[in-house]
Amino acid sequence: MVTEMSSYWEPWQSLNKKSNHILVKLFISVLFVGLLFRLFFARSSPYLEFSEPPTVATIFDSHKGNPQAEKSNASDAVIPQIPLDINGRDSGKETCDLFSGKWIQDPRGPSYTNTSCPFIEGQQNCMKNGRLDTEYQYWRWKPHGCDIQPFDAKRFLRAMRDKSWAFIGDSILRNHGQSLVCLISQEELPIEVYHDEDFKSRTWHFPSYNFNLSVIWSPFLVKADIFEDDDGVSKSEIQLHLNVLNSKWTKDYHTYDYVMISVGQWFLKTAVYWENNKIVGCHYCPRLNLTERGFDYAYHNVLHSVFRFITKSSHKPLVFYRTWTPDHFEYGEWSTGGICNRTQPYKEGDYNGKDVDHIMYEIELEEFHKAIGNVTENAKHVKLLDTYHLSLLRPDGHPGPYRSFHPFEKDKNAKVQNDCLHWCLPGPIDSWNDLLMRMVVKY
Ligand SMILES: *[C@@H]1O[C@H](CO)[C@@H](O)[C@H](O)[C@H]1NC(C)=O
Ligand SMILES: *[C@@H]1O[C@H](CO)[C@@H](O)[C@H](O)[C@H]1NC(C)=O
Ligand SMILES: *[C@@H]1O[C@H](CO)[C@@H](O)[C@H](O)[C@H]1NC(C)=O
Ligand SMILES: *[C@@H]1O[C@H](CO)[C@@H](O)[C@H](O)[C@H]1NC(C)=O
Ligand SMILES: *[C@@H]1O[C@H](CO)[C@@H](O)[C@H](O)[C@H]1NC(C)=O
Ligand SMILES: *[C@@H]1O[C@H](CO)[C@@H](O)[C@H](O)[C@H]1NC(C)=O
Repeated sequence: MVTEMSSYWEPWQSLNKKSNHILVKLFISVLFVGLLFRLFFARSSPYLEFSEPPTVATIFDSHKGNPQAEKSNASDAVIPQIPLDINGRDSGKETCDLFSGKWIQDPRGPSYTNTSCPFIEGQQNCMKNGRLDTEYQYWRWKPHGCDIQPFDAKRFLRAMRDKSWAFIGDSILRNHGQSLVCLISQEELPIEVYHDEDFKSRTWHFPSYNFNLSVIWSPFLVKADIFEDDDGVSKSEIQLHLNVLNSKWTKDYHTYDYVMISVGQWFLKTAVYWENNKIVGCHYCPRLNLTERGFDYAYHNVLHSVFRFITKSSHKPLVFYRTWTPDHFEYGEWSTGGICNRTQPYKEGDYNGKDVDHIMYEIELEEFHKAIGNVTENAKHVKLLDTYHLSLLRPDGHPGPYRSFHPFEKDKNAKVQNDCLHWCLPGPIDSWNDLLMRMVVKY
């Protein structure tokens, strides 16, 4: 048992995932309760999502645009009904697998800075917070067999005239959305036309193009009752309704032309699982005398419901499911002093991820393929943005201690909470949008 545990902590080892599956689940569940989230997402900032319950009220109201409106000058945009192979990737002429490749050095660096993009959240503004090394900004993703152009804001906006995007998910998804806002804002500064009370959901409007980008906070995608106090301490287990989709994102679904979805990390928390108004078990709730189902049970079921909704809906925006984001804590985990002090990408094969990464990523692939496999006609508009592998290779892209403002100013040995999960802006996460550009705009 001890050996298995320590092998879980040893990131370099290739792990026998089946044999210690249960152990890992248990272990992870212990790691992800209460305090850790509290430390990580302390309440002092408006951007914290692990600390406060979502408002159940209908808070999202800015999408009255008509997606069927005439495409005035959207000739650049790939319309949703493009041919896809089973992986949800372009078939046609494109034989290049965009998600398999390597990071190569790129002297051009990022197209925005902490000064030219005013929308970077404090906790991801690594430059402002005093991170000194910059090499992590000088790499680009190079797929085997083709090239990815850097994001072209003007072209993107032209293709997105009169369109609306929804980014639906958790804080990493918002991190991704903010990268997109930064990239686009080099061409035109948006107006923030909506935000909820704690800035978890926001909408930006780009006036010259009548283009809207919404980030909608829904970390489970399904109905969830969360009982955390203002400090993120959980007073009771999360009640998760595995087959009731969260209306926060479904109610305006019919108004979006493009949708990006990604969740995952929240499923590792302690929760009671409901189906059809009955409790069916839980994850890590020893005091409740319920059947332990494991977080994989919940993730399978929720993704099934989500993909079912998307494939059955008569409205067919172009939908991307972005795959699991691996973290890069080393020398410990969230709560146990884990850090991420690397300053360069891994080379292929240097790092293979943790057990939880494999488990969650494989569930996503499995549910995605199940959903689009049989119902091909209804699923042509659903794609994977499979950033898992390329993100795995970027331990250097996280804020680490620089999630706080100048953490070592007063004491250079200060013990600070590290963030090795979200991403610095600018940073490697911008490449997710280079890929997105490639997938939605012809060039
Ligand atoms: C974008 O939002 C604005 C303001 O909320 C609205 O007037 C406009 O119709 C929306 N445009 C699209 C394309 O959804
Ligand atoms: C798109 O806009 C350009 C210039 O803004 C114009 O020359 C072109 O004719 C327009 N195309 C369509 C399809 O409206
Ligand atoms: C941007 O980062 C630099 C350090 O790289 C810092 O001196 C400057 O104050 C920051 N500016 C803003 C607006 O955050
Ligand atoms: C736990 O549940 C089982 C089955 O429902 C029941 O037989 C058992 O008595 C319960 N144990 C406790 C301590 O409530
Ligand atoms: C990262 O931190 C570890 C533990 O403190 C140290 O051994 C290692 O040398 C550091 N690596 C770099 C690249 O600074
Ligand atoms: C898809 O096919 C599998 C077996 O090939 C089957 O078990 C499953 O029920 C089918 N799903 C749908 C939605 O038809």
